[in-house]
Amino acid sequence: MQYKPFGETGVRIAGIGQGTTGMGTKHLFPNEYIQKRIHALKLGIDLGMTFVDTASLYGNGFSEEVVGIALKGVRHKCFLATKFYPHEKMNSQDIRQALEGSLERLQTDWIDLYQIHWPNHRVKYQSVFEVLDKYRMGGAIRFFGICNFTPQETSALSKCIPDISIASNEIELNLQARLMGNEFLHSHDFKGALLAYSPLNQGRIVGTEAQARLIRTLGEKYRVTPSQVVLAWLLSLERVFPIVKAATQRHIKNNAEAMHLVLSPEDIQQISNSWGDEIFEAKPERIKLRGTPQRKPYLTEEEAIENSP
Ligand SMILES: NC(=O)c1ccc[n+]([C@@H]2O[C@H](COP(=O)([O-])OP(=O)(O)OC[C@H]3O[C@@H](n4cnc5c(N)ncnc54)[C@H](OP(=O)(O)O)[C@@H]3O)[C@@H](O)[C@H]2O)c1
Repeated sequence: MQYKPFGETGVRIAGIGQGTTGMGTKHLFPNEYIQKRIHALKLGIDLGMTFVDTASLYGNGFSEEVVGIALKGVRHKCFLATKFYPHEKMNSQDIRQALEGSLERLQTDWIDLYQIHWPNHRVKYQSVFEVLDKYRMGGAIRFFGICNFTPQETSALSKCIPDISIASNEIELNLQARLMGNEFLHSHDFKGALLAYSPLNQGRIVGTEAQARLIRTLGEKYRVTPSQVVLAWLLSLERVFPIVKAATQRHIKNNAEAMHLVLSPEDIQQISNSWGDEIFEAKPERIKLRGTPQRKPYLTEEEAIENSP
């Protein structure tokens, strides 16, 4: 299923999107590695994965710059998604700057999908979208999206901006993380596209031993790799678009091929049946957050907001 209707927007886009995390900030990785990522993205586009997802937060804008280079000459055939993270102190000038910064780094005149990266209940979304909607009308934004919004946060947002249409929500969705995706898949309120990030569980692919056995068996049956089985299964779910990050050409080719893999309804059902969540209560004092000397974890929402740009 190479192309799929993008929620209720009326457009069809590539079923698998290319993720663009892990490029670091400028000067962090050698140029050779960045060139490799540019080649990988270009190859993915050549092979039909024309949906590309980035964010202004990735590498402080560096990921957008790299995407801008990779899309040179092929921008017109791509569906380009990026994100920004509004905070409550942002005024209309800041919002304009954020959008114009992304357009400049991406070397484009328009963004197909402009997404709010994380929910923040302190933000006055009405004012944010008032500014952004002018850009949509001017052609710099085609569709609006959100990321990491729960069903409750999504309906609160829709009430606050009743005239704005939200085309998609990007959430973690893979063989291990299903709770939120499942709620959205059965939701009567939100009918937008679901962009499944970390579809391969960040390279781990499966969650449990039983899933590993099932996915391996299906891989042998269809003569494909386990990751292709998982991507094809996600693709088979209505409104779901896996967004997978691959830096290696072998993985890119593998992922692009998965767009053409059709699993039988029985096999899709078997995988869906194995999609279980284990819910347990974790006492907050038993949760340990690991950080690095350069990057300390935030322990409260206030700390995170205090440190936002
Ligand atoms: N909206 C949000 O808040 C949010 C949050 C997280 C992620 N995202 C988006 O989602 C994208 C993907 O998520 P992710 O990077 O966390 O996880 P992921 O795509 O599930 O996993 C990436 C890992 O899987 C490996 N891989 C890729 N294709 C493979 C294949 N065919 N076979 C085996 N391994 C394969 C990659 O290896 P190589 O790189 O070595 O090829 C990489 O180590 C991100 O890049 C980003 O665009 C969005």
